[in-house]
Amino acid sequence: MCGIMGYIGHREATNVILDGLAKHEYRGYDSAGIAVVKDNEILEVRTIGRVSVLAAKVAAAGLTGEAGIGHTRWATHGGVSETNAHPHISSDKRVVLVHNGIIENAREIRKDLELRGIKFHTETDTESAVQYLGYVYNGDPKEAIVKLTKRIRGAFALVIMFYDRPGEIWTARKGSPLVVGHANGEGFCASDPTALLEYTRVVWFMDDDEIARITRERCEFFDFAGVPHNKEPMHLDWDAAMTSRGEYPHFMLKEIHEQPDVVAHTLLGRIAGGGVDLSRELSWTPEEAKKWRKIHFVACGTSHYATVAAAYIMENLGKFDIRTEVASEYRYRNMTIDSETLAVFVSQSGETADTLHAARLAKSRGAKCLVITNVRGSTIDREVGESIITPAGPEIGVAATKTFTAQITALTLLGMYLAKLRGELPEDSERRLISALMDIPGKLSLLLAKEKEIEELARDFADARGFFFIGRGIAYPPALEGALKLKEISYLHAEAYPAGEMKHGPIALLDKELPVVALVPKNSLWEKTVSNIEESMARRSPIIALATEGDNEIKQYTDHVIFTPATEPELYPFVAVIPLQLFAYYIARQRGCDIDMPRNLAKSVTVE
Ligand code: AGP
Repeated sequence: MCGIMGYIGHREATNVILDGLAKHEYRGYDSAGIAVVKDNEILEVRTIGRVSVLAAKVAAAGLTGEAGIGHTRWATHGGVSETNAHPHISSDKRVVLVHNGIIENAREIRKDLELRGIKFHTETDTESAVQYLGYVYNGDPKEAIVKLTKRIRGAFALVIMFYDRPGEIWTARKGSPLVVGHANGEGFCASDPTALLEYTRVVWFMDDDEIARITRERCEFFDFAGVPHNKEPMHLDWDAAMTSRGEYPHFMLKEIHEQPDVVAHTLLGRIAGGGVDLSRELSWTPEEAKKWRKIHFVACGTSHYATVAAAYIMENLGKFDIRTEVASEYRYRNMTIDSETLAVFVSQSGETADTLHAARLAKSRGAKCLVITNVRGSTIDREVGESIITPAGPEIGVAATKTFTAQITALTLLGMYLAKLRGELPEDSERRLISALMDIPGKLSLLLAKEKEIEELARDFADARGFFFIGRGIAYPPALEGALKLKEISYLHAEAYPAGEMKHGPIALLDKELPVVALVPKNSLWEKTVSNIEESMARRSPIIALATEGDNEIKQYTDHVIFTPATEPELYPFVAVIPLQLFAYYIARQRGCDIDMPRNLAKSVTVE
């Protein structure tokens, strides 16, 4: 979605803001803009396109300042145009703001203000907020913002400056993420904490219904009635180097390569004496664990597929009654959610609106809720209160890669821990799996060494019309994720099916231009999957097989084979996903796609 950056301090504000906006670009990037307040005047530059275009325009205009606000836009209301780009200024030129979210009653406010003679200039919902502020502002910013929060409905992170208050940046949040930071005479705010890492690690994640005033000296917080409150800062444990691409051409490739370390870090501190131990994070008793008869996994996109993999893994570990639900559906179904439900919400960003709303619903119904997220301090982490943090570090590529492996690692440990608490995990199974998990980083490194081979394979298939991904049992969840990766970044149609389901319809689509990627690990379902490969071959579909090292028979069916290291059967998704990520990456590269920022997508989806 949109990205926001605000700065006040001794540096050139436009430089800090442009730098921060560039770090937000992956969130949304059809247009961008920046405004500063100087000598009782609001000055701004806006443009269609990327932050680099904005930077050139800012330099050409000679825009400078000590405080300012900036925005990268991902259009929701109103087309992509310079006029609709943020920041927006009130007609009386006294207020400027940037906004992330949606103001639901914008039309009604606009109509009302137009009747009072205020002229609107854009098609955006945001303009209703800035015009309203201009209308009610009488020299007291807090009072005006309090009035605004009472007038507007919807989701918003607003960052506001007033023409006569060059030393103050004001923010208000409801529903859309915003983080505030401070360090030695400098104040910041941003949608994403990674934009602040270079300047400060001392941050406050804003809560819903909260207003902040940022000056060089301090950050102050108020509720929507304007009453001040104390708020403890958090210390960010990421470091600035993690947000650089290093020598890699794309963040996605860098993040794919980080996966051996990510798995190792996720295991760290969660294994004791050869067994799983999550007691540092979860103060659960065996009685509680037995009480949660139903387990609901709720997530979106890649995080959802991680939960699908987890469900297959966990069903082999204990007697679990698991549902894996897409968050946007979970809220609107009439499922039994009660105190016997353990609801696990998985979100890389911790800001996905669908997942957040689903968590609120489950909490209100009395379910025990747990979050698995990559961002400590994110909204879902703070709201749910009990979390397992995946230490994958910031993920910048829009297509999730390393966070998927971190999530399946954390979920596997969670499944084992629950089974152990319930007394259902035999000690030998626990030792076998822990030892296999500890071998995973080494196996992932072996897979990464096959990068060239996968690149060549991708070159052969980059012109395909589309792809099917098939797998049975534990091979099905990584097939889902492989297809998602490919469609997200290469814009090719890719669909995953349980291999046995192909004959019930999808097989009608197969022909020589539609390759099938078959995940066929050497396990008890190998023969059945091979039958499905043969069915596809009979329809002349080229086959790419993901087979287990040492499986020589597979060569009878296709020359296009990527071999994956053998592992314990339950852990197959770990070794399957890296070749599929690399395959998607190289197909997209071959096709000249914008890999880190694929069209129409945003890293953090904060609207429903
Ligand atoms: C994954 O490649 C996608 N960018 C997307 O499906 C993502 O996984 C989904 O939007 C969920 O995001 P979250 O994990 O931050 O909640």
